Amino acid sequence: MSKIPFGPTYDEMCNPSHIDPNIRKKALESKENELNPINLFNINWKDDNNQVHKIVLPKEMTGVEANIVVLLGKYFPSGSHKVGPAYSTLIEGCVDENIIPGKHTILGPSTGNFGIGVSYICNLMKYDSIVIMPDNMSKERYERIQKYGAKLDLTPGTESDVILTLEKTYELAKNTKNRSLAQFELLPNYRFHRHVTGNACIEAVKNVGNGRIACFTSAPGSAGTLGAGDQIKKEFPEAKVAALEPYECSTLMNGGRGQHRIEGIGDKMCTLIHNVLTTDFVVMIKDEETVQGLKVIHNGISVLESFGIDKKIAESMTDLFGPSGICNIIGAIKMAKYLHLGPGENVVTIATDGYDRYDTVIQNLEQRYLETEDFVLKRWFKDVFLNADTNYIADYRPISQKEKLFIQKEKDWLKFGYTKAYLDSMKDMSFWDNEYNKVFEYDKLIKEKR
Ligand SMILES: Cc1ncc(COP(=O)(O)O)c(C=O)c1O
Repeated sequence: MSKIPFGPTYDEMCNPSHIDPNIRKKALESKENELNPINLFNINWKDDNNQVHKIVLPKEMTGVEANIVVLLGKYFPSGSHKVGPAYSTLIEGCVDENIIPGKHTILGPSTGNFGIGVSYICNLMKYDSIVIMPDNMSKERYERIQKYGAKLDLTPGTESDVILTLEKTYELAKNTKNRSLAQFELLPNYRFHRHVTGNACIEAVKNVGNGRIACFTSAPGSAGTLGAGDQIKKEFPEAKVAALEPYECSTLMNGGRGQHRIEGIGDKMCTLIHNVLTTDFVVMIKDEETVQGLKVIHNGISVLESFGIDKKIAESMTDLFGPSGICNIIGAIKMAKYLHLGPGENVVTIATDGYDRYDTVIQNLEQRYLETEDFVLKRWFKDVFLNADTNYIADYRPISQKEKLFIQKEKDWLKFGYTKAYLDSMKDMSFWDNEYNKVFEYDKLIKEKR
């Protein structure tokens, strides 16, 4: 039997305490030396004590009685949780003997973090890689990708031009030397988030409020993260899942198209791996509010203090989020209000990455505003967080609404060669459960082959 590169199973990513203790110890000790391949065993949501990296936001910030619990993706190797789907897709390809070390070059279609994850994983697992992404994303992204050794193939535009990167990837994939880790369409992305992120969300609320999840909010890029909602609903059937999208590019809500500033989300499509059956609400979030909110949290420690937030907590939050994390937090506040959640109830959401790749986004904001003094930040703090309203929330539980999403998916994917029959099979939850259950088959194979 041929060996595959050494790396964790889905179970070990979900429960790092199941990793061989010597390997777990070495991996934890090697965090600072990020290009040591043992860091593959740090692809998980947990800290050294096997606790989920999270923050329960101060009520003085959210203004709602429910707890808002944010899982922190910045602690993953490479600085975002997108490394998880990148690894999962690559290791499944290795197990299936579809991706062969030394033979294949890996393609990563992305708007940034997935590309960073692909570049990083390929460095550790010794594959050449090419990241295909728009040419107008934050500069920090390109620098990281190049630092990890991938080549860049840039297509014109920004976040909402990601379809051009998809088309380019399809073209490159015609070369039999190339293998695409197609995050928008391959199900390891769903499997990683349903198993690893979903169970991390469930664990994260164990000692918070009533220990249950009333709502999960996530702004889809690939919609991988939304897959966590499926696991949450299995555990807490009453849980609602809200997909958030930019007001300026409201594709799920109304087929809308447009440019926006929330890097990583709102990619002008209903992705193939988006299980629309479990999306209960779609919520539009204004992009400028996410950048304003980021500025307040990153630079406004004294502003936060003036609203009664403990200085230490304010300081601890400065580097935890990027614009999409702020988007998810705003969505969580809105949903807590919309669902009339009370004390003890929990809304869970995700910060995919941290502040480290957004300095240029904040510099850009400062150039666009005459003043960003504390009195302005105070106004933004109130407007963005405390006064978040419940406008632009649509109920997607009725079948007529689901139909709209099915149609959107057909529009987006029939042209890439997927059949109507395959897309129709996704209209039944058994499709998603069957795909999810492959986690356990892959785990067996990874263990046998590594
Ligand atoms: C910063 C950021 N936020 C959110 C997302 C969306 O996550 P997902 O692709 O799992 O929907 C991404 C995806 O790349 C991202 O980079």
